[in-house]
Amino acid sequence: MTAVRRPYVTLSCAMSLDGCLDSTAPHRMAMSNAEDFDRVDQLRADHDAILVGASTVRRDNPRLLVRSAERRAARVASGRPSSPAKVTVTATGDLSPEAAFFTAGDGDKFVYCPRGAADALTRAVGDRATVVALGDAVVAMGDALADLARRGIARLMVEGGGRIHTQFLAQRLADELQLVIAPFFVGEVGAPRFVHPARFPWDEAHRARLLDTRRIGDVVLLRYAMSTRALAEADVGG
Ligand SMILES: NC(=O)c1ccc[n+]([C@@H]2O[C@H](COP(=O)([O-])OP(=O)(O)OC[C@H]3O[C@@H](n4cnc5c(N)ncnc54)[C@H](OP(=O)(O)O)[C@@H]3O)[C@@H](O)[C@H]2O)c1
Repeated sequence: MTAVRRPYVTLSCAMSLDGCLDSTAPHRMAMSNAEDFDRVDQLRADHDAILVGASTVRRDNPRLLVRSAERRAARVASGRPSSPAKVTVTATGDLSPEAAFFTAGDGDKFVYCPRGAADALTRAVGDRATVVALGDAVVAMGDALADLARRGIARLMVEGGGRIHTQFLAQRLADELQLVIAPFFVGEVGAPRFVHPARFPWDEAHRARLLDTRRIGDVVLLRYAMSTRALAEADVGG
């Protein structure tokens, strides 16, 4: 049997000048601006699935749908669902079936969790999502990617939060990083960070390849290739 290639993985994130994804306040902090939100909407439309961590589902309650009617129509016209499939990962299984992740949109939804959490989670979410049991204490992201590939997901967009980004980067599972820098500081102890301490493959001696920079109103987009596959897609060589 030939192995299915893991999905092409795009990490997408907006952070403050001090590397935070959000503040500690109850409402979600808007890091970006309307023009950049529209760019992210196009990025969503260009992928087969969107993954966020369970903490982001609990805290932000995101719908994770393509907002533009034109983009949804274009996806449908090309034989795809109007929005990408949704994916989340949890170790505790602490997810409300009333979260917009489960209730918004009629596309596929997948929840990856360790084997011990799967039964209770399946009972909780019913037919609103497919619960996939992988691993004992935590889910290995590489295993989740392999499972998504077998389900036909060729391009995965990862929208955070920081604990998720850290694993994809440290485990060399990301192809591309699209990082937006907002022009302000959060400055709070305990604010969620873009990444947590880890051993990353990129350091002083192994630098990521900057593909592009773009000014979008008052924010800046940095695009990095994190794999040779991304370099090949961008056609810039190794
Ligand atoms: N600015 C942006 O672009 C952006 C984007 C997304 C999110 N955010 C912000 O980021 C914050 C959340 O980030 P975060 O780092 O705290 O959390 P996160 O990365 O969204 O989610 C972490 C949670 O995911 C689950 N998880 C992660 N790795 C796992 C693994 N290997 N196996 C099983 N489960 C795993 C665990 O869920 P359980 O606890 O259920 O076990 C863990 O607590 C929020 O404030 C949100 O607003 C900002």
